[in-house]
Amino acid sequence: MTQTASPIVYLNGELIPASEAKISVLDRGFIYGDGVYEVIPVYGRMPFRMPQHLARLQRSLDGIRLANPMSDAAWADVIDTLIARQPFADQAVYFQVTRGVAKRDHAFPVGVPPTVFMMSNPLVLPSAEQVKRGVAVVTAEDNRWQRCDLKTTSLLGNVLMRQLAADAGAAETVMFRDGFLTEASASNVLAVVKGTIVAPPQDNHILPGITYDTAAELAHAAGMRIEIRPVRREEALGADELWLSSSTKEVLAITTVDGRPFAGGVPGPMFRRMWDVFQAAKPKAAATAAA
Ligand code: PDD
Repeated sequence: MTQTASPIVYLNGELIPASEAKISVLDRGFIYGDGVYEVIPVYGRMPFRMPQHLARLQRSLDGIRLANPMSDAAWADVIDTLIARQPFADQAVYFQVTRGVAKRDHAFPVGVPPTVFMMSNPLVLPSAEQVKRGVAVVTAEDNRWQRCDLKTTSLLGNVLMRQLAADAGAAETVMFRDGFLTEASASNVLAVVKGTIVAPPQDNHILPGITYDTAAELAHAAGMRIEIRPVRREEALGADELWLSSSTKEVLAITTVDGRPFAGGVPGPMFRRMWDVFQAAKPKAAATAAA
């Protein structure tokens, strides 16, 4: 009974029902948020850009000085096995590595194995309505730490930011630091200015998004102009278009900002083009999986 009701997850080498997966209260992920994570979208049981996600995992692990517990081949194996064990085809694979279980002390424990947890949820993409009409965002000053390039499980700054959006009935909170666009609470932000896509540089203030990279690659391939450079707040808020990008949102137009219609209140032509090329770039099994 429990076996069928509870989804299969991966914990420290074992594939077990989620209801049976247990970790210690002393896990540093729980105590300190001392860990990193990844989210990979899966279309028709095919992971999208897995090598890029695994490379970013390595980068995050390096950034927090935690050894990667598995080779990329081993990660790919576990991810594929977990995907195969879910009853749905389009998935969002979530996995995290924490600095393991140890007596509470801020400094790194010695000789402690990391905790590795992985689960896969149904991939909930934006609705057709959201793609057609765009979504609302609120804006806020980015008060997170200076290592937003690491995909850490310490997400309180992002959680508080997202709640501002939730409180306002909006989809995201778009942030600015010292007058420049950074990103949103769980997405990157791209703008379109006079026919050119402009996106903030992937420095320590934003997560190097795999979807952002995908959009940039697709823009190049489709002959759309793109510039990676700092984007001033006024330029972003006066742009012809603003987009969100993430593994679970793909690309999504912003049509309301702080309660006011933005850029005519409808997704722009550059967005529609990018959305089309993005759909075409997804694994081909997606079409059959959606049926
Ligand atoms: N979030 N910026 C932040 C702060 C994010 O959390 C995310 C992704 C992105 C976009 O990255 P990518 O295109 O690689 O998904 C940018 C994931 C989906 C999450 O935390 O659920």
